[in-house]
Amino acid sequence: MKNILVVGSGGREHAIARAFAKSTQVASVLVVPGNPGMIEGKISTRSLAVDDVEGLLDLAKQEKIDLTFVGPEQALVKGVVDSFEKEGLAVVGPTKSAARLESSKQFAKEVMEAAGVKTGRHHYFKPGDLLAALEEIDQLTPPYVIKEDALAAGKGVSIVSDVEEAKKIVKESLSAGHSLLLEEFLEGEEFSHFSLVNGEKVIPLTVARDYKRIYDNDKGPNTGGMGAFSPVPFVDQSLCDQVVEKIVGPVAKQMVKMGCPYTGVLYTGLILTKEGPKVIEFNARFGDPETQVILQRLKNDFVDLLEAHLAKKEVIAEFSDEWVAGVVLAAAGYPSTYKKGLPIDITKCHKSSIYFAGVTQEEKATEEHYKSAGGRILMATGRGKDLSQAIKVAYDEIKSIDATDCYYRKDIGKAFIKD
Ligand code: AMP
Ligand code: GLY
Repeated sequence: MKNILVVGSGGREHAIARAFAKSTQVASVLVVPGNPGMIEGKISTRSLAVDDVEGLLDLAKQEKIDLTFVGPEQALVKGVVDSFEKEGLAVVGPTKSAARLESSKQFAKEVMEAAGVKTGRHHYFKPGDLLAALEEIDQLTPPYVIKEDALAAGKGVSIVSDVEEAKKIVKESLSAGHSLLLEEFLEGEEFSHFSLVNGEKVIPLTVARDYKRIYDNDKGPNTGGMGAFSPVPFVDQSLCDQVVEKIVGPVAKQMVKMGCPYTGVLYTGLILTKEGPKVIEFNARFGDPETQVILQRLKNDFVDLLEAHLAKKEVIAEFSDEWVAGVVLAAAGYPSTYKKGLPIDITKCHKSSIYFAGVTQEEKATEEHYKSAGGRILMATGRGKDLSQAIKVAYDEIKSIDATDCYYRKDIGKAFIKD
């Protein structure tokens, strides 16, 4: 029986912990730091920062951990995987150097260019390049896509139609010392593709759609993600195969060639343009909230799948035909300023369909009563034989939560449901 360590504290890590807990080979799942909503059955939590590399190593040894899964990018860029590998501990995730596919947008563009992978045309500007950046904006046609070259949890991207607003954002960003990319706006439907990559070996997982903007009809600023569903109606097997053949495979090969082979989950953010799928970003990890919907569809034993991935063994990841959708409950005001400590009562919900993120719990509270502790509080999910049913169940769940000063989008999946 195996002891598992999951690094992270959000809904994504709750989903990863549950996938491990389902395995008959698993004795315990320790989530660090986790949150109180995750504690159930084999799953426990321990307070420790996700980027405390030494602390994590000590804990893994003390608790006789057999396999570690690193969820968030902050831990990856701190080199948690590098340190675990150096000590000969089994760990899922990319090294610091390989995680540059996410942490440096310029590096990701260089890899794609060298690998012949289709992505939006772009120009890169450093803090001293203000004049050149403003001139470039004058050459471009709206909408303008401005991406800060730093980890920003999906929030460092601005898409604006007004030229003066674009210039203001660029000025502010460059004078704050950030580098940025001005990127061609790609028109088409967006989807996310997930694979497990180890060197040149790729195990395709599945696809999901997430909703990054805060308001209905994709209005307002970008967030970490306000809802998701899986699979995706307009993505068939042949499109998935194309993504693996033309994008994930070549990028994996290129990373090996550049001396920084990739290990772990590779999240490819794509837009299906008229000329086929083009990459908008890579993330060096599972998505949040996509993981909460995709792992519910996974049929393989999670430990078997990850051990095959680490050993570069042949395995096919299988997903059920069921549809899963989820809606995120956020504190009103997120992604800007928001209150903490809001009471959340899930007495009327099915707890197994809830994935907790920014929650705390008072000492004497019952299992159904939490206090909010972050912008994204939890995700309510639903399953069904089709997307429409999955969405309905997810909304029934979220409506049954008793919470004040909270907000959720009302249009998750709506555009893809035929009445
Ligand atoms: P990113 O952090 O790069 O995923 O960007 C956040 C969101 O901005 C994406 O999920 C897309 O919805 C949108 N986006 C990013 N780049 C582009 C682009 N080149 N064209 C159109 N939309 C984009
Ligand atoms: N859902 C977007 C992300 O995980 O980056």
